[in-house]
Amino acid sequence: MKKFLTLLLAAMLIQAGASAQDLTFDASRGIERTLTYDGRAVNFIAYENIFYVANPASDAQRLSVYVPAEYLRGGIVNGYSATTAPIFLPNGVGGYMPGNILEPLENDRMSGGANASLVALSRGLVVVSPAIRGRTTVEGGEYVGKAPALIVDYKAAVRWLRFNRDRLPAGDTEKIISNGTSAGGALSAALGATGNAHEFEPYLADLGAAFERDDIFASSDYCPITNLDNADAAYEWIFCGVNEYYQAVWQRNPNATAEDANHPVPVKKAAVMTAEEIKASETLRDAFPAYVNSLDLLDEHGNPLTLDKRGNGSFKDYIKGKYIESAQSALDSGADLAGVDWVKIKRGRVVDVDLKKYPAAVTRMKAAPAFDKLDLSSGENDEFGTAANEPRHFNKTLFNDTFANADVIRMMNPMNFIGREDVTTAKHFRIRHGAADRDTALAIPAILALKLQNSGVDVDFFSPWGRGHGGDYDLPELFDWIDGICKGGA
Ligand code: DHB
Repeated sequence: MKKFLTLLLAAMLIQAGASAQDLTFDASRGIERTLTYDGRAVNFIAYENIFYVANPASDAQRLSVYVPAEYLRGGIVNGYSATTAPIFLPNGVGGYMPGNILEPLENDRMSGGANASLVALSRGLVVVSPAIRGRTTVEGGEYVGKAPALIVDYKAAVRWLRFNRDRLPAGDTEKIISNGTSAGGALSAALGATGNAHEFEPYLADLGAAFERDDIFASSDYCPITNLDNADAAYEWIFCGVNEYYQAVWQRNPNATAEDANHPVPVKKAAVMTAEEIKASETLRDAFPAYVNSLDLLDEHGNPLTLDKRGNGSFKDYIKGKYIESAQSALDSGADLAGVDWVKIKRGRVVDVDLKKYPAAVTRMKAAPAFDKLDLSSGENDEFGTAANEPRHFNKTLFNDTFANADVIRMMNPMNFIGREDVTTAKHFRIRHGAADRDTALAIPAILALKLQNSGVDVDFFSPWGRGHGGDYDLPELFDWIDGICKGGA
């Protein structure tokens, strides 16, 4: 009998142990590696594929830690030491799909050069990159990565870091800086905006995330596809009246050699919106001013930013100002803008931009509604889908059935958390959205930047000239910004 009980107990322990992952960082698992950046060797220790939650919903919930090797020898890199080195936390999410761990690379497929993780190491940052569940993640026949899973995972990774702060060989867990592009930019913004928000607690508890804080120091967001429940209206505020759209379609390059046959090229396909889509476009355009006015936004001088019923007003002037600033910086660096018909230049100064001509110049990418599709066919409908993979609506201006859970829609939008007293928002944000980006309207990152600024956050927001949808294109400047906020005593 005693033997049977002992066996039973052992079996129970094995079963419990099979699913529960140990969150304790094991510093003996590091492997030293060397890559080259900018003609210099970058030596680092890689600790890879570590579970960041005790009860993973997916085998993907792992992260890797990369530490500049100098720190293990007591060295200094770029003025940082093992105790002061900031922690760069990039995510690889795109299209609300699962995000991979971003290991340091010399030849990143997207940029053709060193990726952000390698540049970060070269500048003395510790890199921690978690894989993140996405809208197609399946486990045991269930879709386990629908909203808000991506934010929950990013937060769990932050909590894991804090749990291990005294076991990590280097890195200051009070200087965590997130980074992402597009849906990953939205994720980075959400992490920065929602620090310790109670809404995420049950999700984190379910996963067995470490019981720690999940606020971060700073958030870097490239072209964030965020504020999804208002992004349709913002898009039509700019694009309404332009009915032809040019969707980027990923297609195999017919001229590809065997080696790069798997690297597709984007082609543009023209189509015209249907009568129903045009009607939705007008409804959404008309809804935008009330949304903007509900936010009580102020410019840097304290003047209200609003729109009248026709969509004109100080908010529009503010957006024009961002394009003027963008065009001026291009002019100042020697670009020729003579052929750009929506930009007005007088004696070397950009004096105006024409937002009526802008959409025809950059072209509309998405039919209306841009995000919450009439036929539920977008990636965002899928992101808000059910565990059985049924897509759902999320824009209450247009839809009231097949609607996602209202709490989840709220949790996915950083705007709902900024300025809340029970939430710790990151102190610093850097937001970039290219002046030629048509995946979402500039108004969306602008509203995010303004709301943060109005809540006392330090925001560096700029629209780089000629840039379409993309990120990590100005890594030296990104890391200069990081040095500035980390070394400035902030
Ligand atoms: C991305 C781009 C989109 O246009 C979109 O609607 C969602 C995500 C992306 O590149 O991540």
